[in-house]
Amino acid sequence: MQVVTLIILLFFCKASEFRKVRRNNRANNDKSNNSKKNSSTVKRYAPGIPCDIYTYINEKYLDCQEKKQTTVQNDWPEDLIHILLARNRIRIIKDNAFSKFHILKSLDLQQNEITKIEPQAFFGLKSLTTLLLQHNRIKILSEEVFIQMPRLTYLRLYDNPWDCNCELESLVTLLQIPRNRNFGNYAKCENPAELKGQKLKQITPQIICQEENGGPKPLEGSKVTKPSVDSTLCHTYLYPIATLDCRRKELQQVPTDISPDIIKLDLSSNKIKRLQAKEFKDVPNLESLNLSNNGIEFIDPAAFSGLMNLHELDLSENKLCNFQYGVLEDLYFLKKLWLRDNPWRCDYHIHYLFYWLKHHYNVNYNGFECKEPEEYKGWYVGKYVRSYYEECPNERFQVHVGMDEEDWEKMEDRKQIESAKTQAVLLTVLT
Ligand SMILES: *[C@@H]1O[C@H](CO)[C@@H](O)[C@H](O)[C@H]1NC(C)=O
Ligand SMILES: *[C@@H]1O[C@H](CO)[C@@H](O)[C@H](O)[C@H]1NC(C)=O
Ligand SMILES: *[C@@H]1O[C@H](CO)[C@@H](O)[C@H](O)[C@H]1NC(C)=O
Repeated sequence: MQVVTLIILLFFCKASEFRKVRRNNRANNDKSNNSKKNSSTVKRYAPGIPCDIYTYINEKYLDCQEKKQTTVQNDWPEDLIHILLARNRIRIIKDNAFSKFHILKSLDLQQNEITKIEPQAFFGLKSLTTLLLQHNRIKILSEEVFIQMPRLTYLRLYDNPWDCNCELESLVTLLQIPRNRNFGNYAKCENPAELKGQKLKQITPQIICQEENGGPKPLEGSKVTKPSVDSTLCHTYLYPIATLDCRRKELQQVPTDISPDIIKLDLSSNKIKRLQAKEFKDVPNLESLNLSNNGIEFIDPAAFSGLMNLHELDLSENKLCNFQYGVLEDLYFLKKLWLRDNPWRCDYHIHYLFYWLKHHYNVNYNGFECKEPEEYKGWYVGKYVRSYYEECPNERFQVHVGMDEEDWEKMEDRKQIESAKTQAVLLTVLT
C-alpha cells in the first residue's frame, strides 16, 4: 500500500515538474522576448482599434479582443493559428468569412452581438478544433454551419437565446451524437416558454418539432423551474490560461458543470456558505482557486479532494473558525494560502491547521491570527499553540509530552488521535 502511494506520489511529482518546466519556458520566452516579440500591429481596419499579431510558442495569434470590431476582416495573415475576437460588436458572420485560414485551430467569438451566422460562414476551417460562440444573441443555427469543420471537438454555445423550434432540430441532433460530447454543453432554450431553461443536449427533436400537433409539451417531471447550478453566468477565457471567472455572481454553490480543462477558477465575492465533499472533482487541473469573500463557514474534509495540482488557494474574508481534520490532505502542491480576515478561533480545533502549515513549510500563508476568544485576540496562532502546551496543566497533555511533531504528523486520522487520547487518560489514572 505504501509503495503504491509512493509510486503515485512520484508520478505526480514528475508530472508537476514537467508542467513547471513547460510553464517556465513559456514565461521566460515571454519575458526575455517580450520587447522583440515578433509582433506587428495591424492598423488598416477601420472602424476598430488596431489589433495585435504575434507569435507565441511557435503559434501565430491575432489578438483583437475588445477592439470595437463590428465585422470580421479578411485581410489578416493566412497562417494564423488562433484568432481572438472576444468582446467586440460583431453581429453577422458572413459566408466565407474565415475561408483562407486553413491552419486555424481556435476561434474565439464569445461576448459579441452575433445574431446571424450564414450557412457557409466557417467554410475552409479544416483544422479548427475550438470554436467559442457563447454570450451572443444567436437564436437559430443549423448543423450545416458546423459540417465545414471536420476537426471540431470543442464548441461553446451557452448564453445565447436559443429558439427551440423545429428549425433547431438538426443542431440538437448534432449535439446529441456521443462523439460530440464537448459540443454545446449548457446551452439552453430561451423560447418557447414551455421549454425555457431546458438544455439543448437534453431535449429531443420530437419535442421541438411537435408544434404542428398542438404545441410542444414540457418534458416529464417538469425540470424547467428548477434552477440548476451552472457556470453560464461566468466568463471563460482561454488565453493566456483557461480561466473561469465567476466573480460577484451571487452564487450559493460551486457550479457543478465546470469544464475540466479550467486551470484558474475565480469564485470570489459570491454567497457560498459551505463547501461539500468533492466540490471540485471535475476540475482536476485546477491550479488557482479563489474563494475569497463568500462567507464560508464550513469546509467538508473532502471538499478539495482530487485537487492535486492546486498551487494557490485564497480563502480570505470568510467566516472560518477552524479547519476540519483532513481538509488540506490532498493539496500536495499548494504553495500559497490566503487566510486573512476569518474569525479564527484559538482552541484545540485550530491545531490541525497549525501543524499542517508547520509541516508543509514551503506553503506561504498569511493572516493566520486568533480572533477569538478575547484573551488571544490578535495573537498569531503559532504563539497561541505554544502557550497552550506551556500553560495548561500536565495531565491534560500526557499524550503530547514526549511526542515530537513528527509523531504528531504520523497520526493519520481522528481515530488514532482519539485512541491516543484514551491512552493518555489511562496514563493519568495510573500516575
Ligand atoms: C526568443 O525566442 C526564440 C524563439 O522564438 C528563442 O529561440 C530564443 O532563445 C528566445 N530568446 C531568449 C533570450 O530567450
Ligand atoms: C517576424 O516577422 C517578419 C515580418 O513581419 C517575418 O518576415 C519573419 O519571418 C518573422 N519571424 C519569425 C521568427 O516569425
Ligand atoms: C481573489 O479575489 C479577490 C476579490 O476579487 C481579489 O482581491 C484577490 O486578489 C484574489 N486573490 C488572488 C490570489 O488572486
